[in-house]
Amino acid sequence: HRHLLGIEGLSPLDIQFLLDSAAAAVDVSRQAEKKKATLRGRTQINLFFEASTRTQSSFELAGKRLGADVMNMAVAQSSVKKGETLIDTAMTLNAMRPDLLVVRHHAAGAVALLAQKVECSVINAGDGAHEHPTQALLDALTIRRHKGKLAGLVVAICGDVRHSRVARSNILLLNAMGAQVRVVAPTTLLPSAIEELGVTVFTDMRKGLADADVVMMLRLQRERMAAAYVPSVREYFRFFGLDREKLSHAKPDAIVMHPGPMNRGVEIDPLIADGVQSVIREQVEMGVAVRMAVLEALGQHLSSTPVQN
Ligand code: CP
Repeated sequence: HRHLLGIEGLSPLDIQFLLDSAAAAVDVSRQAEKKKATLRGRTQINLFFEASTRTQSSFELAGKRLGADVMNMAVAQSSVKKGETLIDTAMTLNAMRPDLLVVRHHAAGAVALLAQKVECSVINAGDGAHEHPTQALLDALTIRRHKGKLAGLVVAICGDVRHSRVARSNILLLNAMGAQVRVVAPTTLLPSAIEELGVTVFTDMRKGLADADVVMMLRLQRERMAAAYVPSVREYFRFFGLDREKLSHAKPDAIVMHPGPMNRGVEIDPLIADGVQSVIREQVEMGVAVRMAVLEALGQHLSSTPVQN
């Protein structure tokens, strides 16, 4: 593979390889000396057209831990603000000969389009409501560390599935690896034809969470909703917010996940977010490891490709 544009297109073996490689990267990140030299001499540019805390900082750390030169393009201060298009911006950066371009964009498909235009490897760091592949990989690694496997687990993905690239990538990955995926949401927050992705749909949290091994909460993405459709926060929390009572329907050793950023008191009770079943902060740690694995895998492709003049 030259690019990582989505979980779609990855085989179960590819996923397994990246998770195993990320597991090794966790050990590197826990040493006092956190550096490897795999990407020494390579240039990585992070190009984020949408806000990010976790993904951008972990891609930066991951690149640095592998010895790459990492540049964060400050989109808000760039010529994008003067009307330069996505493709022109990408071609400008491409002319500076980066090896890896990490891109987040608000439009689904924008990252794949850009990948067709540039000569370097492109990693999708989230495109609209389409895919967020490194999030699904870090979620899978976190689950595997707690449950020892992915196959056969019951995973309930709850909340704003409609606007969620995290949900889509997780559904694709978990299904590929043999998990049983449920989505739990009000019908207004479900995309059309969601069943075609191979999930069981629930509109009642208690039924959807019954005997689940993993409860994955999603952020209510109010910025992607027309004003008339934004649900009332109090009502949403009452029916779909994860609190102690709703969580009691899952298995007693179920883990609670959230990709972040969290709306505390909207989709999740702070007591649960900070509770003993929560693995939310571990997800963040796994984020650096998974991004190291992805950068390394694409970097290996680069080392076998002579530079074209
Ligand atoms: N989970 C996630 O993508 O978080 P950020 O938007 O902070 O990168």
